[in-house]
Amino acid sequence: MLFQDKFQLRIPGPTPIPPQVQMALTQPMIGHRSTTASTLIETCSEGLKHIFGTQESPLILTSSGTAALEAAAINALMPGDEAIVIVTGAFGDRFAKILKRYQIKVHRLEIPWGHACDPHQIQTFLEAHPQTSAVFMTYCETSTGVLNPISLLARTIRQQSDALIIVDAVSCLGAVPSLVDQWGIDIMVSGSQKALMLPPGLAFVTVSQRAWPIIEQNPTPRFYLDLHAYRKQLENQTTPYTPALNLLFGLEAALTQIETEGLPQVFTRHQTLKRMTRAGLEAIGFELMTSERDASPTVTSVSGHKQAIHTEQLRSLLKEMHVHVAGGQQHMKGKIFRIGHMGYCDGFDILTTLAAIEMALTKMGITIELGSSVRTAQEVWIHA
Ligand SMILES: Cc1ncc(COP(=O)(O)O)c(C=O)c1O
Repeated sequence: MLFQDKFQLRIPGPTPIPPQVQMALTQPMIGHRSTTASTLIETCSEGLKHIFGTQESPLILTSSGTAALEAAAINALMPGDEAIVIVTGAFGDRFAKILKRYQIKVHRLEIPWGHACDPHQIQTFLEAHPQTSAVFMTYCETSTGVLNPISLLARTIRQQSDALIIVDAVSCLGAVPSLVDQWGIDIMVSGSQKALMLPPGLAFVTVSQRAWPIIEQNPTPRFYLDLHAYRKQLENQTTPYTPALNLLFGLEAALTQIETEGLPQVFTRHQTLKRMTRAGLEAIGFELMTSERDASPTVTSVSGHKQAIHTEQLRSLLKEMHVHVAGGQQHMKGKIFRIGHMGYCDGFDILTTLAAIEMALTKMGITIELGSSVRTAQEVWIHA
């Protein structure tokens, strides 16, 4: 089929890959202990410092994001320790599940799906659980499209506790500001396949000066996910085990792309994409799952339509038009759909997606004015 490779991948990860990154991925293989590999690893770790907002060298794992979540959990805590997990959706829930599996006592601070955690909520919860050794939270909760105010949450936690602050930034790092050192985040983890415009397969972890002694003295058994080993090897510009070298070639190219556009400009672009998506969808009768304040610039969740529609029918009509959007997770399956707009995504991608959604609605017999969501989004973009 002529157009089978021409599609809009508008799911919240994996995300489209820029051509420069795609080309970098196909470079000839090199030895993983070569000088070229060492330079590559050092360049990537240096570049990531800027994106995380830290002076510490980010560790690079060949793994999916979940392995980095697990690494954070088992390096920072030991069985019997108490942890708070702020659960704003499926990925907060994943953190809690990992911790439970390692016999860590979990206190779940449940926030209704679609809402961000308010600093007062963590303050009260922490008062009720003073033995807490670590607080886990999700920066962008991909399952709902919420961006938690992690700088405020971290400040609140630091004011009343010595608990480590551990953040999952898998679905937003590189698209939203991150000032790990300034905000007092002890461990932040992210992955390659979202705003960093790479295929899946790499995960990144920053560790604060405060957390290292705790990690080093932690007797919990771990091997591949022992962060101390990654730190030691990074001092020699290498990794403990063979890294996914082609992904590192890609990462170097992606970091160059981000530097060239400029981080502040990247953040502004994502804000514009969020506003275009939200305004466009609302213009044709959709209801959004999150408020403007709580919404992430990387993913938008749609909870319904003024005229009740079948979300899965909409998704399959979009698929026929080569526009892929995501469904809901856990109890939101079949109830919501989610549009990813992070990484290699510009305003025209949003206009195309909205145009396809208008056509799908029309095919479903919903009366809307064709072009109205596109026009609304264009207006947002023009005035951005
Ligand atoms: C916020 C968040 N955390 C963790 C993960 C898990 O990452 P992976 O699927 O790479 O293991 C995802 C993936 O969608 C995510 O969005």
